[in-house]
Amino acid sequence: LDNGLMRTPPMGWLAWERFRCDIDCDNDPKNCISEKLFTDMADRLAEDGWRELGYVYVNIDDCWSSMERDQQGRLQADPKRFPMGIHNLSHYMHARGLKLGIYGDMGSHTCGGYPGTPLDKIELDAQTFADWEVDMFKYDGCYSNASEQEKGYPLMSKALNATGRPIGYSCSWPAYQGGLPPKVNYTQLGEICNLWRNYGDIQDSWGSVLSIVDWFFDNQDVLAPAAGPGRWNDPDMLIVGDFGLSLDQSQTQMSLWAIMAAPLFMSNDLRTISADARRILQNKALIGINQDPLGIQGRRIVKEKSGIEVFFRPLQNNGSALVFFSRRSDMPYRYQTSLKKLNYITGSYELFNAFTYRTMQVKDATDFVVSVNPSGVVTFLVSAPAKINRRQFYSGGKL
Ligand code: GLA
Repeated sequence: LDNGLMRTPPMGWLAWERFRCDIDCDNDPKNCISEKLFTDMADRLAEDGWRELGYVYVNIDDCWSSMERDQQGRLQADPKRFPMGIHNLSHYMHARGLKLGIYGDMGSHTCGGYPGTPLDKIELDAQTFADWEVDMFKYDGCYSNASEQEKGYPLMSKALNATGRPIGYSCSWPAYQGGLPPKVNYTQLGEICNLWRNYGDIQDSWGSVLSIVDWFFDNQDVLAPAAGPGRWNDPDMLIVGDFGLSLDQSQTQMSLWAIMAAPLFMSNDLRTISADARRILQNKALIGINQDPLGIQGRRIVKEKSGIEVFFRPLQNNGSALVFFSRRSDMPYRYQTSLKKLNYITGSYELFNAFTYRTMQVKDATDFVVSVNPSGVVTFLVSAPAKINRRQFYSGGKL
């Protein structure tokens, strides 16, 4: 969507995967969906180095609203759990250099059973969100059918635009239509939405991450061309920092979300996150790959019988990113390859390992070995071939 927003994939925090529809603030005050949860996360984003790295959206998901609309028919926040109201919550974010996102649904009800935003409520609700100075809107699709979605998603895009307030627009439409043509029209999505959920919900498990990765790369020929500045495929939230992933699997999710030019919305508890998880999510090389201004979505370029897969993303200044991923479950696998085998043109390159920070100089035709842990990755930033080979060439070194 050409609204000037999200020229690189949006980054921030989103409540759903970790905090779901916990509305029991009496018994679970720290984790329930309430304004306190969002101000807590905002404080962490602002004070723990996240905001400076680009993590600026604080996004409300389902279960924020009252069961009834107000006297004028407008959506309203649950008064017990959001006593200051959404408008004050957006001020809280803006005062800290952050942005606020909110959630609605195209059907009669949200997926969690709260009031929806069906066709006849679209203009009113878009205006309400703009009045509250909200910065992003996720429009879910539960309890709506294909023909309502076909009208509703473009109509909401127009309605948000008509408010005059820049509001990033996340569409769940393709996820409700199987994510693939001919049912899904990616050209149209790129025109009306800033990002879109293509596939099922992420859960806190490695199996879930793997199924998402497999679907996105199996369908890369359809999906990758749809992405670009202002329009992104969304494989769903980062669960790094939660319970389901090992350290290696966490590095894998972050690396592949970077390759995919995916929106980086963490759904975790920033108040208690481990140093290891934070280091992965705050990794500047990975964020740099994700946020590359060209906005070209990367692809899987090799799928070996051994279970090693290689992913590639072109970056600005003739740079690129390479991810070696192992589907194996035995031991670190020593994978031997060369840049030439990976279709790089003749020249000398520098490989910067995003996790160890070690660099290695290689010529295109020279074999090197990467040791890839089970369900883990080795991730490189690859610099363009040097015009003159100034550096002493060396090869071999295990990374
Ligand atoms: C759907 C969406 C999720 C989340 C829930 C909320 O399942 O795909 O991301 O928003 O609804 O109920």
